[in-house]
Amino acid sequence: MSRWTGRWPTDGIAFGADYNPEQWPEEVWPDDVALMQEAGVTLVSLGIFSWGELEPEEGRFEFGWLDRILDLLHEAGIGVDLATPSAAPPVWLHLAHPEMLPVDADGQRFTHGSRESWCVSSPVIRHHATRIARVIAERYGHHPAVKMWHVSNELACHNGRCYCDVSAAAFRDWLGKQYTDIEALNLAWGTAFWGQRYASFEQILPPRRTTTIPNPGQRLAFERFSSDAFVDHLEAEAAVLREVTPHLPVTTNYMVMGDFHQIDYTQTTPLLDIVSNDHYLGAEDPRRFAELAFSADRVRGLAGGKPWLLMEHSTSAVNWQPRNLAKQPGEMVRNALQHVARGADGVLFFQWRQSRAGAEKYHSGMVPHAGRDSELFRDVVGLGATLGRLAEVRGSTVEKARVALLWDVPSWWASELEAHPSVDVRYLDVARDLHGALFDAGVAVDVLPATSDLAGYDVVLVPTLYLAPPGVAARLAEVVARGGQVVVTYFSGIVDEHDRVLLGGYPGAFRDLLGVRVEEFAPLAAGGSVSLSDGSTGTVWTERFTADDAEVLASYDDGPSAGRPALTRRSVPGGGAAWYLSTRLDAPSMATLVAKVLTAADVTPLVPRPGGLEIVRRVGESGSWLFAINHTDGDLPLLAEGTDLVTGAPHGLGASVPAGSVVVLRGA
Ligand code: GLA
Ligand code: GLA
Repeated sequence: MSRWTGRWPTDGIAFGADYNPEQWPEEVWPDDVALMQEAGVTLVSLGIFSWGELEPEEGRFEFGWLDRILDLLHEAGIGVDLATPSAAPPVWLHLAHPEMLPVDADGQRFTHGSRESWCVSSPVIRHHATRIARVIAERYGHHPAVKMWHVSNELACHNGRCYCDVSAAAFRDWLGKQYTDIEALNLAWGTAFWGQRYASFEQILPPRRTTTIPNPGQRLAFERFSSDAFVDHLEAEAAVLREVTPHLPVTTNYMVMGDFHQIDYTQTTPLLDIVSNDHYLGAEDPRRFAELAFSADRVRGLAGGKPWLLMEHSTSAVNWQPRNLAKQPGEMVRNALQHVARGADGVLFFQWRQSRAGAEKYHSGMVPHAGRDSELFRDVVGLGATLGRLAEVRGSTVEKARVALLWDVPSWWASELEAHPSVDVRYLDVARDLHGALFDAGVAVDVLPATSDLAGYDVVLVPTLYLAPPGVAARLAEVVARGGQVVVTYFSGIVDEHDRVLLGGYPGAFRDLLGVRVEEFAPLAAGGSVSLSDGSTGTVWTERFTADDAEVLASYDDGPSAGRPALTRRSVPGGGAAWYLSTRLDAPSMATLVAKVLTAADVTPLVPRPGGLEIVRRVGESGSWLFAINHTDGDLPLLAEGTDLVTGAPHGLGASVPAGSVVVLRGA
């Protein structure tokens, strides 16, 4: 059987949506397909939630409707990303096996009636999910419309942690493989504290609700175990698809957005042919375009810099936030092209036709309740045409940045465990601050898993890397030794892989690299701030530390660490330096610090440009494309020239990017 050739599932940039024809009478389908053609749709994800329609009783299949819609789509030249339906098991399966429903930390079992209502360790769901995957792969894997596989949906979105007895047994098995024996586990978890010592693995439970602070070693192990369980589930479904249809690429839609961190996706990328992501804006966040950029950059890092697929975003409002604001005019196009600029070779939405009934009927779609005669559908058609004109960009990659920013899911889990020095230390905050400062400065950054190779980067930013992965200090030291700038921020390098403090002064993992020794954390009261001697303002956190082998660039003028260093730099011959920042700077102060670090490394913006204009360059065998996205309501000049693929017109040096618009310059 032939292997997947690596060919992208569509010729140009993929355009489409989740398509849920089972929600509609069959008379609507020809209209759907005609409208898809009008909009230039090339790829739809089908069957994600249709298990109950496909297999109304165990072993009895209703394939007719799926046969007919696949044929209709194929005749219209629309490719299909066919899903395995495990995200929504049918009611009969739940009734036959109520033990597969997940249980929360309070011991409460969920009921069926929504979706993702299964415990990932349940052998029942594993058996039935792989069974139905095989049925679908065998029946449809060679249908000419089917271009790729979509495994399940947003794994772990609603059922990320389960505390049932089946999970408990699976957790104990997993622990047995992680620790040589129970004494090793006792040492790793520090169970001598509060006399929590275990005599055997059989005595261990998931971290269910207990009287007060649970054991952090147990909590962290359970995060890892649960993430691994989803990796295993993905692997099991993917293995069936690969066995039956080795010629088709396999993906699953990640949730790299906002605060979701139930899975360490670095463990899943080896299992996938194409990395896909879903992204929804926080509608009330005034800097939502910067959050989008940060998420898209993280996805590109997971994809190893290769093109990825935006599997879902929204044409306008969602329905699951407290206030679901409609997108502003032009915002849908800007969002879509921001993802493309940052490496997406496909722009898909949830969902094609806005539902008439059900939990998401107030979530926007490509065809709104108002129908074809609507501004929204006209905008969708416009976006399809624009993406059509960008077809030549497909296959190119975002130009490698000189700046890298590291992130790490185990650090995220561990840094936000209970009973830490301050609830105001949130894992992503400083990462977003740094990314946002670079975004505003117009400087490209690759956002990489902390285990990545750092060769070629001149600046490496290391926010809140609380649990330093093995070898990272040495890799950072190499960056400094070859003349690069490394910036480490507070609450990094504090613990070992089991969440045990590295002794002798913080940050144990980075003391030598930074030339500092922290004796005590001194967080601030709620809303508090401190003044630094260089005019900066710090918030959230300070530290009492000495800089024995580093220069003090700024010290605290006031607050709990008054008179002590705040920002330091350990320089080495050849120009390299390791900077240490012990507080959370406010946005203007962070911008100043980032500018200093960039100057030290001689890193400049891609193109000199005014604030509010986002610039990204993609490069490929046939040339380069400069994306310029105007996030302001005024026209902004762009000092670059080339043919604008959006309008088809030439763009002269210094011509403006109209308010709220995007230009994509070939050759710039
Ligand atoms: C997620 C899911 C979709 C849908 C959208 C709504 O991304 O994958 O099925 O629920 O959210 O925003
Ligand atoms: C979560 C996801 C959204 C959507 C909602 C709906 O919040 O992030 O994409 O699926 O659930 O329940």
